[in-house]
Amino acid sequence: MGDGERIISHGIDVNTPSVARMYDWYLGGTDNYVADRRACRELLEVVPNTQALARNNRAFLRRVVRVLAAEYGVRQFLDHGSGLPTQDNVHQVAQAVDPSSRVVYIDNDPIVLAHGRTLLDANDETAVIQADMTDTKAIFGHEDVRRLIRLDEPVAALFVSVAHCIPDEDDPAAMFRRVVDILPSGSFMVVCQLVSDRADIRDHVTEFMREATGNTWGRVREAHDVHAYLEGLEIMPPGLVEVSEWRPDAQPRFEQSDEWQEFGGLARIP
Ligand SMILES: C[S@@+](CC[C@H](N)C(=O)[O-])C[C@H]1O[C@@H](n2cnc3c(N)ncnc32)[C@H](O)[C@@H]1O
Repeated sequence: MGDGERIISHGIDVNTPSVARMYDWYLGGTDNYVADRRACRELLEVVPNTQALARNNRAFLRRVVRVLAAEYGVRQFLDHGSGLPTQDNVHQVAQAVDPSSRVVYIDNDPIVLAHGRTLLDANDETAVIQADMTDTKAIFGHEDVRRLIRLDEPVAALFVSVAHCIPDEDDPAAMFRRVVDILPSGSFMVVCQLVSDRADIRDHVTEFMREATGNTWGRVREAHDVHAYLEGLEIMPPGLVEVSEWRPDAQPRFEQSDEWQEFGGLARIP
């Protein structure tokens, strides 16, 4: 794909970096274009730990879904900001525990819908929908969510590495509250987002990502913001942590420095 390429199909603009395709590149995927890769390399100059951080985040997603399915008995998952299909997708991890587990993937990037539908063609328990994750009403009203997700048994709502994509004016805290209010007691919220103790990193990366993605990005925040999102819920062990510290297993962890982190964990709705 040359630098001069513009629009391809399905409304996909290959010249503006997309968060989903940048994340795919950091994970070693091939569903990305020149503009995505260029933005990824530029970001690595500011925050060199980003690739390790993305891989550790993906491993956290695998572990938390497995724990939810195997230890907490969850059989339905709503994966907000699911990203492009890669290895160990949520339905694969959950259905390895129980093949009847149901998963709805939600993303606003059309490339996720196109690739996701191909992957899920033959899986009746799984769907991928294109929606803005802040549009809770549209998500819970969507026919695939109504078909696959029952609100009389626990649901896990996943928001893994996505809250930083939501600007303050779209109120990520209110988005979490809306979902908590809809889900039945005993359901779970999985939330992590990019945080940094360093104001220079928070400001620089936020500005870089907003400019790179055509203003479709939110903000690097601080750990206390994640605590605030989950206030009133029962935080499950080991608490809210840098995600590679969340119940590590035998799989290798990627060495990462601490310019910024994915910070969060698992919470139960009382
Ligand atoms: C960093 S990726 C995380 C992917 C996956 N959750 C994971 O942790 O492996 C962020 C994803 O959120 C999606 N996203 C960003 N803003 C969104 C929004 N407002 N509504 C739905 N999806 C969004 C992006 O397209 C991207 O696929």
